[in-house]
Amino acid sequence: MKLEEYEKMFHAEDEHWWFVSKRKFVGAFLSGMLPLSSKVLDVGCGTGAMSVFLKQYGNVTSMDFLSLALSFCKQRNLSQICQGNALELPFRDESFDLVTACDVLYHQWITEDSLALREFHRILKPRGKVLITDSAFSFLSGKHDQFVLARERYTINQMQTRLEQAGFRICKKSYAFFFTFPLVLMIRYLERFRNKEQTDVNNQASFINPLLIKLVTVEARLLKYIRFPWGSSILFLAEKQ
Ligand SMILES: C[S@@+](CC[C@H](N)C(=O)[O-])C[C@H]1O[C@@H](n2cnc3c(N)ncnc32)[C@H](O)[C@@H]1O
Repeated sequence: MKLEEYEKMFHAEDEHWWFVSKRKFVGAFLSGMLPLSSKVLDVGCGTGAMSVFLKQYGNVTSMDFLSLALSFCKQRNLSQICQGNALELPFRDESFDLVTACDVLYHQWITEDSLALREFHRILKPRGKVLITDSAFSFLSGKHDQFVLARERYTINQMQTRLEQAGFRICKKSYAFFFTFPLVLMIRYLERFRNKEQTDVNNQASFINPLLIKLVTVEARLLKYIRFPWGSSILFLAEKQ
């Protein structure tokens, strides 16, 4: 991501509906799926709010490529912080129960996502899990993607193929941000007619935030039982075979 985006993310991610939703969706997929006190690696942890959320599942190590991101993690009192590259993880084989990569694989600094997935597979214990969230559908690509240095947006089928080729069995998969999908489509369409100078993180009137959080809370509950046929993100939980 461009450097100025890290500070924006740090200030937005506790309250902004999109970040709150992502944590709710991750919680819906992980519920009841992990051993007690798991060893968790949060790859591409960014400014740390997801790592803080993941602490409920066990002992979390937060890793990012960029020291700037990790300096924000320190402000969140995350103690196990490490700088590293998802393409060459600085960890021993079979050392984690869960690896999370939330909106990381799409990034331009991940030059080969299949290599990152093989690295996740290597450091997971037998039957360890990987949780992936990422952006969906190339037709939703917009200025936001340029600001956050996106390389690719995925379909469920593309990510499933890559996970299986890396040696994973799919446990759960879905599109996410289903109910807000029409809004995102409309925003992307309108963007064509104006010169946008910032990411989507800034584009939000404060009165709408609690409404959107209510909407995604319903979606997160439903995600435990159903798979959504479209949405602006993909969500996967897969197991090492
Ligand atoms: C969009 S942010 C997501 C942050 C966090 N995972 C979240 O869900 O809020 C993507 C993060 O991936 C990190 N990243 C990108 N390429 C990476 C790589 N090759 N190795 C490690 N981290 C990487 C970026 O520095 C950035 O912090």
